[in-house]
Amino acid sequence: MSRGGTIVSWGVSVLFLLVPLMGARPSAAGIPPRNETARVARYVAHMCDWGALATISSHDPVRGQPFANVFSVSDGPRGRSSGVIYFYLTTMEISVQDLQLNANASLTMSLAQTPYCRQEHYDPQSPLCAHIIISGGIQQVDATETDTAKMALFSRHPEMASWPRDHDWFFAKLNITNIWVLDYFGGIKTVTPEEYYQAKP
Ligand SMILES: *[C@@H]1O[C@H](CO)[C@@H](O)[C@H](O)[C@H]1NC(C)=O
Ligand SMILES: *[C@@H]1O[C@H](CO)[C@@H](O)[C@H](O)[C@H]1NC(C)=O
Ligand SMILES: *[C@@H]1O[C@H](CO)[C@@H](O)[C@H](O)[C@H]1NC(C)=O
Repeated sequence: MSRGGTIVSWGVSVLFLLVPLMGARPSAAGIPPRNETARVARYVAHMCDWGALATISSHDPVRGQPFANVFSVSDGPRGRSSGVIYFYLTTMEISVQDLQLNANASLTMSLAQTPYCRQEHYDPQSPLCAHIIISGGIQQVDATETDTAKMALFSRHPEMASWPRDHDWFFAKLNITNIWVLDYFGGIKTVTPEEYYQAKP
């Protein structure tokens, strides 16, 4: 009897141990409900520290063809999402040279770069591993927005503060025209820039 009682109470304490652990899974708890697509888009944009940016190449032998490259991004310090995707760029960079000829670009960001997809065992290509594609023009921010862009980027990419000064770094942002969201089966969804900026991540 006493032996059985011990097993039961051990089982109960394991349950008590597990429940708080499951509740604490930050990513699963944090992603907005998938029927709120604009919020999902804002969530992915805020959680990601980098994305792959596709430009129209201005360089041989792929001139005129798509060219994808990694960029560090931020839409605000952690917990202070603005939705505005900021970049820290130099014209010495090959993709930025493309943007000087054609500022139109497409940026993709995925929760594959956060613990979420690994915890849930979602392959990066699975729609369940939420990802977004944002297109628009990349433009230098004006003087009134420089401090905001700097705070957004340097708070999440502290190393940027020590990048070589002679590279003439400047702050830029994506002027968003279209947003696509893949977070579930049944096809890609779209969100307008207005819905995106109004949503709370
Ligand atoms: C999403 O679903 C939840 C629960 O069913 C509901 O309360 C909420 O209003 C829905 N949101 C939208 C944007 O449809
Ligand atoms: C950039 O995209 C805009 C909006 O889609 C389009 O009107 C414009 O022609 C594009 N510019 C170039 C250089 O392709
Ligand atoms: C942002 O893009 C839209 C659509 O391509 C364009 O009409 C608008 O002028 C752009 N905004 C700025 C500030 O360049």
